[in-house]
Amino acid sequence: MWASLNLGLLKESSMSLFLKSQFCTKVQWPPKNINLEGNVAIVTGSASGLGLEASRQLLEFGLSELIVAIRSIEKGEGVASELRAQFPEANIRVWPLEMESYDSIRALVCRAHSELPRLDIAILNAGMQTAELDIVPMTGHERLVQVNFLSTMLLAILLLPILKAKSSPGQPGRLTIVNSGTARGAKISEPQGTTVLSALDDTSRPWNPIERYAVSKLLGHLFIVNLVRYVNADHVIVNLVDPGLVKNTALQSFAPPIVAAFFYYYKAVLGRSVPVGASTYVDATVVKGKESHGCLVANWKTSSFAAFVYTSAGEMIRDQLWKDTMKEFQFAGVQEILHELRR
Ligand SMILES: NC(=O)c1ccc[n+]([C@@H]2O[C@H](COP(=O)([O-])OP(=O)(O)OC[C@H]3O[C@@H](n4cnc5c(N)ncnc54)[C@H](OP(=O)(O)O)[C@@H]3O)[C@@H](O)[C@H]2O)c1
Repeated sequence: MWASLNLGLLKESSMSLFLKSQFCTKVQWPPKNINLEGNVAIVTGSASGLGLEASRQLLEFGLSELIVAIRSIEKGEGVASELRAQFPEANIRVWPLEMESYDSIRALVCRAHSELPRLDIAILNAGMQTAELDIVPMTGHERLVQVNFLSTMLLAILLLPILKAKSSPGQPGRLTIVNSGTARGAKISEPQGTTVLSALDDTSRPWNPIERYAVSKLLGHLFIVNLVRYVNADHVIVNLVDPGLVKNTALQSFAPPIVAAFFYYYKAVLGRSVPVGASTYVDATVVKGKESHGCLVANWKTSSFAAFVYTSAGEMIRDQLWKDTMKEFQFAGVQEILHELRR
């Protein structure tokens, strides 16, 4: 469970690692004999991009039931009817999920409790970039931190007991949280007299959209180290996956035309295709085993975390972030859920 942590700090620069991942890594397609018959999966943000393609790949391996968890039911139903036509044997359902709302997350978890006879796989893929510093009115947190970190981790923790109880007997449940290579070079400055979350919400501090996206994903590296202390890999295998830079998704749809054009050409040269990017999800979720528990899977292998995780500031912020996040999630009884999981 400590493989990524034990790999230690990579000596190469983030840029060199990035270029090697994009150009020098051989794609490792999942073995053709994977059989997901009987399995039930939830994939968040699965009406476009990597989430949709990963869902399709799971269905190609015989997945029996897919929950498309998406904020627009109309968009989700459009995608679901295409998937139903392609995979008539599978049961495909669309459930609403707004990652800016804790109520929406809890409602989805409630449905999973009451309506799903089984839950084998959860891929937490919903994520965003933005150009504007913005606070989510319902929670008071900066939007990127809210969607990419806080809401993702709340959903992860609330799904853990269901994955433990409802995965196929003898098989651990699988929880894969989508991360990003941008986290590799990210840092968080010391909160200086306040909590980590308050510092990240402070609109008077300098804010850069690219840096903040990377930080929102770095928070996942810091959090998973503490989270997996509560999770037995015989019950649920939890990992992070970095799909690499992937072209032709809607991640930069927020951007003004000139920025969007830059990203388009940048990704056209450097980016992986969507099927290749999505294959990393299938790899992390159904090919990798217990060795990936608590780890970052990147380039189809267990990899080091971001450099910041191995610094003394990183250790200090990791502990503070855990405390802040547990406090934030108190309303959902998260400490009790985590303690119960250990039994
Ligand atoms: N593309 C890349 O190069 C790359 C690289 C590294 C990591 N990633 C990560 O991969 C994941 C998928 O990204 P993508 O490239 O496939 O982009 P995408 O096509 O924009 O997919 C993102 C998905 O997340 C959903 N989402 C965003 N905000 C949400 C919210 N508040 N509530 C519920 N759903 C929300 C979107 O829903 P709507 O359809 O309703 O907008 C969309 O389905 C993200 O976590 C991203 O950070 C991408």
